[in-house]
Amino acid sequence: MSRTVLVTGGGSGLGRAIAARFVQDSDRVYITGRRTEVLERTARELGGDAHALPCDGIDPDAVESAVARIDGEVDVLVNNAGGNTDFREPAGGGLKGSLHRWRANIDANLITAALMTEACDDKLARGGAVVHIGSVGADQGSGAYGSAKAALASYSVGLSKQLGPRDITSNVVAPGYIPDTEFFGSGVSQERHDHLISLTALGRHGFPDEIAGAVHFLASADARFITGQVINPNGGARTTR
Ligand SMILES: NC(=O)c1ccc[n+]([C@@H]2O[C@H](COP(=O)([O-])OP(=O)(O)OC[C@H]3O[C@@H](n4cnc5c(N)ncnc54)[C@H](OP(=O)(O)O)[C@@H]3O)[C@@H](O)[C@H]2O)c1
Repeated sequence: MSRTVLVTGGGSGLGRAIAARFVQDSDRVYITGRRTEVLERTARELGGDAHALPCDGIDPDAVESAVARIDGEVDVLVNNAGGNTDFREPAGGGLKGSLHRWRANIDANLITAALMTEACDDKLARGGAVVHIGSVGADQGSGAYGSAKAALASYSVGLSKQLGPRDITSNVVAPGYIPDTEFFGSGVSQERHDHLISLTALGRHGFPDEIAGAVHFLASADARFITGQVINPNGGARTTR
């Protein structure tokens, strides 16, 4: 049966791969982001029943009007928008620079998820799933970005309890190093690339489709008893018991 899926930040990188995975199922897929032309091009390239829904995830009015354009209920919400804003918006020095860095990372990775989830609340279908994209950085330091992703995991635990009575799950997929996205801006140095790979047990980086597969599983009938959890597709860079 075809479902309705909303993927924030679906115009590029992991979000695009996640959207593509659900388009393969013939689902109706909405993708959000701030760049209208990127979203429209991605929706065209994805084909099927994919739709661009431009909005800035930290603008409450924009989020509300985007959600109002969704036809019917949302079966799967993927809060994927975000990234390490330090890579794109180098803040100045001093406390003012720190304040900017912290707020920008928390806005991009936590507030976008909280606003979108709240805006969709009335539309979330019974038996549905919310999946948030966290990061291995949540457990490895990573400054304001890692802290924002750790807070996202905490938010997801609360949400799992809030949505559980409606048979809606909330989980986090926390990827390791996936270079084939816009995350790193102009890219990482060869030295950093080699270092990140050396941290893994598998001796390689991950691919966007592998993250999409984990999200798709958490939104599947096989995962209905999994909620409030974090799944770590990171090649063994950080292991959990
Ligand atoms: N790649 C990795 O190695 C890696 C590892 C761990 C976790 N992650 C996480 O994976 C997620 C996807 O990142 P990615 O690697 O695919 O990088 P990406 O290609 O830069 O994707 C991030 C997407 O989020 C959107 N976005 C950012 N801020 C937004 C906002 N305020 N409102 C709406 N959309 C917004 C961007 O679109 P616009 O710029 O058009 O708004 C973009 O499409 C992020 O949450 C990131 O933290 C990535």
